[in-house]
Amino acid sequence: MTNLNTVMKKYGEQVTLFINQRINKSNAPDIIKEACLYSVNAGGKRIRPVLFLMTLDALNAEITEKHIAYASAIEMIHTYSLIHDDLPAMDNDEYRRGQLTSHIKFGEAYAILAGDALLNLAYETMLDYAVNAKDIAAARNIAEAAGYQGMVGGQVLDMKKPDTVNDILAMYSLKTGALIKTSVVSAGIIAGCNKRTLKRLADYAEGIGVAFQLRDDYLDKTDINEKTGKPKDSDRKNEKATYISKRGIAANQNKLQKYTKKALTALQPYGDSYNNLRSLAEFLGDRMK
Ligand code: IPE
Ligand code: IPE
Ligand code: MG
Ligand code: MG
Ligand code: MG
Repeated sequence: MTNLNTVMKKYGEQVTLFINQRINKSNAPDIIKEACLYSVNAGGKRIRPVLFLMTLDALNAEITEKHIAYASAIEMIHTYSLIHDDLPAMDNDEYRRGQLTSHIKFGEAYAILAGDALLNLAYETMLDYAVNAKDIAAARNIAEAAGYQGMVGGQVLDMKKPDTVNDILAMYSLKTGALIKTSVVSAGIIAGCNKRTLKRLADYAEGIGVAFQLRDDYLDKTDINEKTGKPKDSDRKNEKATYISKRGIAANQNKLQKYTKKALTALQPYGDSYNNLRSLAEFLGDRMK
């Protein structure tokens, strides 16, 4: 097993444990608890919390329980975003990670409410641990990225089906890129890194963020072995505007490589402590799920 795999597995497990404990100790109604735990434990890759924690490693910061809490909060927000993304009013998908989507399993009302609960629990969790101005600033960066200036704004653009490839790429950088970017940048903020480094971390994360959605669209089109556990061709069913729908698969792969390269270039001045972030960028570019 490579170092990247070992670290991803370790951080993924720590975050999974933290989120489960946080939900279990809450006094949420049973149905909400059950629905939250169902989606949290359905087999997500934990890419965003892993990015948060690997960025701290790159910056040589010591990882504490507070950091695991923040990483977990980002994953809770991501999980909520997917529960809502699958709803009939949005992508109307019945499977995610090889399992029934939340609204199919629990009904629409409870799926909506489980998403709402996870979103709010994310902020509760960060506030439980925030002790200084950097912690608050990191939480604020995450809140902005999740909201109308970030993921929510991007989902609005997705529903509106942008016409041009530039508008499609701008939509990707919000609906998917924003949460990925904050996973890296908020870690930089919490660690107190300087502006120059923060800018390079942001450039890195912008690159992998758009590349991540280009790969997601590619898998939507090509996942014949159903490795993603999501319905193949959901984007065509919904007549989504994607880079592939405008330019085709080959151009999509080219663009993906360009964004990955951009991400790697941003890290060029830095040493070996950034190697896992580099390897992750490459890994995400040809992931199969
Ligand atoms: C899927 O994200 C949604 C996108 C933003 C493209 P992931 O592929 O990270 O989903 P899980 O959590 O691993 O299932
Ligand atoms: C990203 O887009 C979803 C979110 C920002 C929540 P998709 O709609 O393509 O994601 P999947 O393919 O359903 O995971
Ligand atoms: Mg969608
Ligand atoms: Mg979707
Ligand atoms: Mg998709």
